[in-house]
Amino acid sequence: MKVLVIGGGGREHTLVWKLVQSSRVSEVFCAPGNAGTEEIATNIDLSDGDIPGLLKFARENEIGMTMVGPEVPLVNGIVDEFEAANLRIFGPNARAAILEGSKVFTKELLAKYQIPTAEYHRFTEAGPAIKFLEANTTYPIVIKADGLAAGKGVLISPTKEDAQQGVREMMEDKVFGAAGDEIIIEEFMTGPELSMLCFVDSKTVVPMVSAKDYKRIGEGDTGLNTGGMGAISPNPLYDDELEAYCLENIIEPTLEGMRHEGRPFKGILYCGIMLTEAGPRVLEYNVRFGDPETQVILPRLKTDLAEIFDAVIDDRLNEIEIIWDEGAAATIVLASQGYPEAYPKGLPISGLDRVKSSVVFHAGTKLASGEVVTSGGRVLNVTTLAETVDEALESSYTNGELIQFEGKTIRKDIGS
Ligand code: AMP
Ligand code: GLY
Repeated sequence: MKVLVIGGGGREHTLVWKLVQSSRVSEVFCAPGNAGTEEIATNIDLSDGDIPGLLKFARENEIGMTMVGPEVPLVNGIVDEFEAANLRIFGPNARAAILEGSKVFTKELLAKYQIPTAEYHRFTEAGPAIKFLEANTTYPIVIKADGLAAGKGVLISPTKEDAQQGVREMMEDKVFGAAGDEIIIEEFMTGPELSMLCFVDSKTVVPMVSAKDYKRIGEGDTGLNTGGMGAISPNPLYDDELEAYCLENIIEPTLEGMRHEGRPFKGILYCGIMLTEAGPRVLEYNVRFGDPETQVILPRLKTDLAEIFDAVIDDRLNEIEIIWDEGAAATIVLASQGYPEAYPKGLPISGLDRVKSSVVFHAGTKLASGEVVTSGGRVLNVTTLAETVDEALESSYTNGELIQFEGKTIRKDIGS
């Protein structure tokens, strides 16, 4: 079968890398891909948002299965359009992808089905939100744009003035466009975070091995939020008991609620959880693999990934056994100077061929006249599979030193 992977980051390079190893897969295409996917698959010059173009490509090239990496095409209904054209595609349809597409929808669902999450209020106008904050006495507080904002739509405001400013920027200045037409103001929670990813079909949910993402740019969890500066698997806080608790009290009631609402979910469900003193509570849902969590989860997967995707599409997930490597994995991100704010692009990258004991998944790279150059904020993910997280980290850091580009930025405390 020929497979199409949609997206062009580190997550998608990892998906492509795993799928080319499948005995069921004859050829892999990636749209738009990056310099790393170009090495092991065929890049297609179509953006991940060009649903008609992708559909046409899949039809004309007899693609047997399409896998969608990022959230935007899922929320915009790519699965619905492929299914209507009788093309096999992995992921939730638009009605189910709303779990990531609308934070208001998700908070209402969690409340309706009594699933633990932060207390919240929703607002469709700035005035009442500002007034609410005026009367509120507990800070910090969390302000969230309802819609998709490329991971930037969450503000943790330390003071009333800061929170009110955030509301104005979202609702009046429209810094996130229509995503800020409605907002959530919610209680600030504290505790360690856990990313729980599951394969889901209409009958079965199978959790993957756990991971921990390091979202802030700076050491000691300081500075701006990024897409993720590194990850480890397993998450040291995770055990069978916590997994069983989260499945029973969070994941299963959410999936049951979605079925009840006429929005059955299928694909990858990613639940961001905070382990508060009052127990695990939901931070957010994503409807796709995490980036960079995928870079540490999929290297540990022993089962053929294409077989799992096929089983989910056909609602046969209960029939297959999913086997994981017992060891550990780590990935560190080599980022551009300035990320997550403005950063330069087009800088030459050297030393990739010197890496021996790690795998390098490309994120923001492209080929320019045959040379690999930077093209994004997160440039490369140096990933290692080892017996322990410490061994994996050591190798990733050592190999990360062998790669050079101007302004290369690494967070040094991944794993801590
Ligand atoms: P989200 O996109 O909703 O996961 O939010 C991004 C990040 O903001 C999370 O990973 C948390 O670190 C933080 N965050 C979101 N909601 C809250 C909350 N209610 N309390 C504390 N931190 C939060
Ligand atoms: N690493 C966080 C995310 O993929 O949303």
